[in-house]
Amino acid sequence: MGGFSAEEKEEMKAEAGIAACAFVKDGMTIGIGTGSTVKYTILELGRRIREEGLIVAGIPTSEATEKLSIEQGIPLVNWSECSALDLVIDGADEFDPKLHLIKGGGGALLREKIVAEASGGMVVVADASKQVDTLGNFPLPIEVNRYGWEQTQRRIQAICPGPVNRRGTDYLTDNGNPILDAQFGPTISDPVEMEARLRSISGVVEVGLFTDTADVVVLAAPSGCQMIRKETARL
Ligand code: 5RP
Repeated sequence: MGGFSAEEKEEMKAEAGIAACAFVKDGMTIGIGTGSTVKYTILELGRRIREEGLIVAGIPTSEATEKLSIEQGIPLVNWSECSALDLVIDGADEFDPKLHLIKGGGGALLREKIVAEASGGMVVVADASKQVDTLGNFPLPIEVNRYGWEQTQRRIQAICPGPVNRRGTDYLTDNGNPILDAQFGPTISDPVEMEARLRSISGVVEVGLFTDTADVVVLAAPSGCQMIRKETARL
């Protein structure tokens, strides 16, 4: 985020992460996202449980989030106990004017999408650097099967104008899969079509495009937090 010190950036993340907790009410079961902004949501939920007696249960979107949630005393449930969530709070790497997202910078996109699709609403926590006109400047994370990942990479490369690189030779997601980062540049003007196109490639496990999923973005800026709500927002 140009022009801001590391401290200012951290303050903005904290503001967004905490402000999003206003959507969480007693008795809810919520999806808990992954990343350095949602970290503050988890800390705030922990505080509200301890100090205000908030009653809530969560499903984490990554092993890192699971660990922090347990440390914060947030009761967790699993998919054998729960089939629908009231809402999910999660971060994003980019969002466009229609609140389509790129996610997966932290490698948790598959679990994040499973959780988002089970949720009755999605609140995104972000700072101003994530707001774009057209998605794609942030390299699009694509989780792929280990088998034949090089061939899957070639097929993605055939539709991506920039390089498609494997994230670290040893990097694997919590699900044991590699990630390919596809450098589209700011060219993804039809994210719905691109998400479907990439998902149709055998070997692609999940794509970091989250289209028609987010309802509200809690956007942090130095002057405070702004809520950007989709016209059709469920929340
Ligand atoms: C993880 C994600 C994160 O939500 C995304 O990368 C944003 O993270 P941060 O809040 O640290 O910028 O999609 O897979």
